[in-house]
Amino acid sequence: MKVGVLGATGNVGQRFVQLLEGHPWFEIGALTASSTSAGKEYSEAAAWALPDEMPESVANKTVRETGTDAVGDDVELVFSALPSSVANDVEPEFAGEGYIVASNAGWARMEDDVPLVIPEINPDHLGLLEVQRDERGWEGGIIKNPNCSAITMTPTLAALHPLGLDEVTVATLQAVSGAGYMGVTSMEILDNVLPYIGSEEWKMESEPRKILGEFDGARVEDADVNISASCNRVPTVDGHLENVWCRFDDDVGADDAKEAMRSFTTLDLPTAPDQTVLVREENDRPQPRLDRNAGGGMSIVAGRVRDDGDARLKYSCLSHNTVRGAAGASVLNAELVAERYL
Ligand SMILES: NC(=O)c1ccc[n+]([C@@H]2O[C@H](COP(=O)([O-])OP(=O)(O)OC[C@H]3O[C@@H](n4cnc5c(N)ncnc54)[C@H](OP(=O)(O)O)[C@@H]3O)[C@@H](O)[C@H]2O)c1
Repeated sequence: MKVGVLGATGNVGQRFVQLLEGHPWFEIGALTASSTSAGKEYSEAAAWALPDEMPESVANKTVRETGTDAVGDDVELVFSALPSSVANDVEPEFAGEGYIVASNAGWARMEDDVPLVIPEINPDHLGLLEVQRDERGWEGGIIKNPNCSAITMTPTLAALHPLGLDEVTVATLQAVSGAGYMGVTSMEILDNVLPYIGSEEWKMESEPRKILGEFDGARVEDADVNISASCNRVPTVDGHLENVWCRFDDDVGADDAKEAMRSFTTLDLPTAPDQTVLVREENDRPQPRLDRNAGGGMSIVAGRVRDDGDARLKYSCLSHNTVRGAAGASVLNAELVAERYL
C-alpha cells in the first residue's frame, strides 16, 4: 500500500521515514512539509538527525507543500507528524477526501468520535471510525496515538487495571526530543531540569482514561481511574522515564503485578514487539540509554516493581518517545487499520 508522510522533515517525520523503509506492507509514495521545504529533495530539506543513515530510497524524492494535492491518488493512508496547530486544519481535509490519517498530533485526541488507540489495549475503539464517518460525512477517517508520555505508562496501567487499579500518581523525566527539533535550547536544558511541559500533565491525566475506557458501539466511557501527573524535561536525548505510584481496591503483590505486565497482550503485526511490557529485575533499570531500543523501540520497559504498603505498588517504566511514543505508534495503528478495515 502506498502511504504519505505529512511533516516528513521533522523529528517524528524522520522516524516515520526510517520505520517505513523496507516495511512489508507500506511504501512511501509522498513526503510533505512546510513551504520552506517544498520543492527541495528530501536530503536537502531534512536535517537528518537519526543515528542510522537516511534511506537512499527517499534521499532524492521531492518534498511537496502539505495539502491533499501533494499526495497522489494511489496513496490510501497518510501518517501525520505535523504540529498540532497545522494538523488541526490539514487532517480533516485528508479525511474528507477519503484518506485514513494515522496521526501523532495532539488536536482531537479527546474528541468523542476520534479513536485514541494503542493496538494491544483497545483495538475495538477503531469502531469509532464508523461513528466519525456517519457524524462528519468523511469517506476517510482520523485515528490518533496518544502523547509520548501517556503511551509510556498506559500499557502498564492496562496490565494492572484488572487487578483493581484505583488511583495513579506519576512523575515523568522526559527526553528533549519530545519537544521537537527546535523545542528546547541547549542553554535551557544542559545542567538543568525543567519542571513544566505545557499541557503535558493534562494529557497524561486524561488520555489513559479514554484508552482504558469501554466502547459501547457509539462512544467511549472513560475508565474510572484517577491519575495525577507531574511532568519534567530532563537532558536525555531519547526515552521518557516515568516513576509511577498505584493504589488498588485491595492488596496486590509485586509478583502478581509483574506477572500481569509480563503476560500482557502481544500482537502479530509487523511493528508490534514480541513483548509489549518487558519487566526487568535489576534495581537500576530501566535507563534511557540502555533500554529505549528494547523491542526495536516498541517495548515498554518496566522495573523496580515493589510494594508500597496498604494496597499500593510503585515502579518505573520507560519507552522510546519518538518510536513507541510517536512514529512507531502510528505505524502500528495503521497496520491494525489495514488488517481490519482496508
Ligand atoms: N517528538 C516527539 O517525541 C513527539 C511524540 C509524540 C507526538 N509528537 C507530535 O508529533 C508532531 C511532530 O513533532 P516533531 O517533534 O516531529 O516536530 P518538528 O520536528 O518541529 O517537525 C514538524 C514538521 O511539520 C512541518 N511543518 C511545520 N509547519 C508546517 C506548516 N505550516 N505546514 C506544513 N508543514 C509544516 C515541518 O516542515 P519544515 O521542516 O518544512 O518546517 C516538519 O516536517 C507534533 O504534533 C508533536 O506534538 C511528537
